[in-house]
Amino acid sequence: MVLAALLERTSPAEGPDTASQSSAQVSPVFTPAHRTVLDAVREFFGRRPEPVQPIAYTHKVHLANGLQCPFCHVGVDQGPDARIPSVNFCMTCHQAVATDKPEIKKLAAYMARGEDVPWQRVYGFAPSAHVKFNHAPHIRAGVDCVKCHGDMTQRTVAIRTVDHTMGFCIGCHRENKASVDCVTCHY
Ligand code: HEC
Ligand code: HEC
Ligand code: HEC
Ligand code: HEC
Ligand code: HEC
Repeated sequence: MVLAALLERTSPAEGPDTASQSSAQVSPVFTPAHRTVLDAVREFFGRRPEPVQPIAYTHKVHLANGLQCPFCHVGVDQGPDARIPSVNFCMTCHQAVATDKPEIKKLAAYMARGEDVPWQRVYGFAPSAHVKFNHAPHIRAGVDCVKCHGDMTQRTVAIRTVDHTMGFCIGCHRENKASVDCVTCHY
């Protein structure tokens, strides 16, 4: 299998780096038209346009080739952030795979310029909601990615298919006897 050979070339030492993290989040703009902050937050998420990604990445193709989520999102079972792989990580395969495709040429050009791909964040919270989220305890407790992100095996780039409202979090915490203390999720 070509992919198996490629996987071997991807040594752990070249694991994904942190690319676009929370710092890349768009900050909400509150206007006096919002009576409460909550209204403003809802408005912000309600009207936030779908992010347009700089490269037409495809989850479907990579997952159909047998890659698993933590192969790229290395932080997901380690700590708070799942993380997005760096361009160097992508290029461990794409130096050899599909090099003639326009999207891969764009990828190679980022690497040649010494830049990372400016991926736009899809999920996330307004800073004013003071939410702290942590992936690792969920993965350890066996909560599937699908519950919070939908079925990624049929996606190209990620889209926001699940609304991460407070009710959504608390509903599942109640069902699973996980903590519903305010400070579990808020700082
Ligand atoms: C383990 C190897 C591997 C890694 C790592 C990898 N890819 Fe791929 N990628 C593939 C394979 C295999 C294909 C399918 C190629 C084909 O169909 O010709 C593919 C296809 C693609 C395509 C579709 C190309 C086209 O137009 O048909 C894009 C875009 C892409 N990869 C981007 C990325 C990005 C961005 C990363 C890093 C986040 C990445 N890949 C990491 C193996 C990999
Ligand atoms: C209990 C819900 C939940 C589960 C389960 C979950 N996620 Fe997330 N995920 C979130 C939330 C909430 C965010 C936004 C976090 C933030 O911005 O603080 C997020 C963000 C992300 C991000 C953006 C980058 C980052 O570092 O945060 C990626 C990638 C991601 N998740 C991948 C995964 C993968 C892969 C799995 C399964 C192995 C998974 N998630 C399981 C809720 C979940
Ligand atoms: C080959 C690498 C690769 C694999 C494997 C992979 N992803 Fe991703 N993922 C990416 C890249 C690159 C992005 C950034 C582009 C985008 O948003 O689609 C991303 C974005 C995401 C996001 C949106 C992050 C945000 O901005 O909030 C989620 C959620 C996510 N992936 C979940 C998953 C899940 C669940 C799986 C396994 C079923 C998975 N990914 C497998 C590379 C990968
Ligand atoms: C589908 C079920 C489910 C959803 C949805 C969910 N959680 Fe959880 N959460 C759990 C489980 C199960 C645990 C693990 C409890 C344990 O380890 O005892 C957990 C643990 C946590 C922890 C760690 C608590 C600790 O003791 O360290 C935090 C923080 C957290 N969740 C925040 C959130 C937030 C914020 C959301 C919404 C964005 C969310 N969760 C959505 C099931 C869920
Ligand atoms: C299981 C996780 C979880 C718990 C427990 C939780 N919250 Fe939240 N809360 C959230 C999430 C996630 C949001 C953001 C929702 C959104 O952006 O739509 C939020 C939003 C909020 C907001 C609106 C944010 C704003 O700035 O307007 C308030 C207020 C709030 N929570 C108060 C509380 C209080 C008080 C408690 C304790 C009784 C609590 N929360 C417990 C997850 C949680």
